[in-house]
Amino acid sequence: MSNEQNDRIQGKVVVITGASSGLGAETARHLARRGARLVLAARRQERLDELARELKDLGAEATVKATDVTDRGQVEALVKHATDTYGRLDVMVNNAGLMPLSPLAEGRVDEWEQMIDVNVKGVMYGIHAALPVMNQQQSGHFINLSSVAGHVVFPGSAVYSASKFAVWALSEGLRKEAGPNIRTTTLSPGAVQSELPQSVGHDETAKQVNDLYEMAIPADSVARAIVYAIEQPADVDINEIILRPTAQEM
Ligand SMILES: NC(=O)c1ccc[n+]([C@@H]2O[C@H](COP(=O)([O-])OP(=O)(O)OC[C@H]3O[C@@H](n4cnc5c(N)ncnc54)[C@H](OP(=O)(O)O)[C@@H]3O)[C@@H](O)[C@H]2O)c1
Repeated sequence: MSNEQNDRIQGKVVVITGASSGLGAETARHLARRGARLVLAARRQERLDELARELKDLGAEATVKATDVTDRGQVEALVKHATDTYGRLDVMVNNAGLMPLSPLAEGRVDEWEQMIDVNVKGVMYGIHAALPVMNQQQSGHFINLSSVAGHVVFPGSAVYSASKFAVWALSEGLRKEAGPNIRTTTLSPGAVQSELPQSVGHDETAKQVNDLYEMAIPADSVARAIVYAIEQPADVDINEIILRPTAQEM
């Protein structure tokens, strides 16, 4: 790694939603080692506090804000917490998500609504809250978590895929509207180790997911991709990344 690349992450203020586990937590660790200033958000405050302590032990600056991304006011308060604490916001990682897969005929409507609320509205609220700050700064970067399931649909993934196709559309619309100073990255992972499969409540689908996740790759694969997108020069916008286990066919 060159010093110049290191400098592009050093001091950046990065908000991560869904930082209490999985990809969000691992991304926070990678960015902390590179000198970013972190704002950790999720519902489980004690997990965030523990992670913040770990990051501070690495010598990083980190602050915590308990946030439910389905609540627009809480997402606005999260962004305000970032700017109150650090005076700016450089990167908004809209990562919080759920994946309660099931066949449509099962009619698990509450789970569908939860996926739309977290995976889609949560990202919209993140954009809504952070965009004015970035516009004022004339700089900023959104990193939105879609999925391989945001590019292809499997039996059982209809609503989850709909939510992740929506993330792709939101990111692409944002990219076209946001002007020359704001970067937008859509990141679409395949099977990556995290707590995500635990959100599958439908037994038969859970079995299929557990089989697929036997090939899952470590969460640091995603963290490194996020670092890569952030460390580019300001005039380079990494718009899309799809990454899978080499062994994953779909
Ligand atoms: N792992 C994969 O294979 C994979 C593949 C493709 C895409 N993704 C995407 O990657 C993102 C991260 O998932 P992950 O794999 O790291 O799963 P994870 O370990 O289950 O983490 C999900 C995170 O989202 C947070 N979250 C859930 N509901 C929330 C809410 N209402 N408000 C705020 N935070 C909420 C959880 O924190 P709290 O429960 O503490 O709120 C947790 O920190 C998701 O968008 C997921 O769809 C993952």
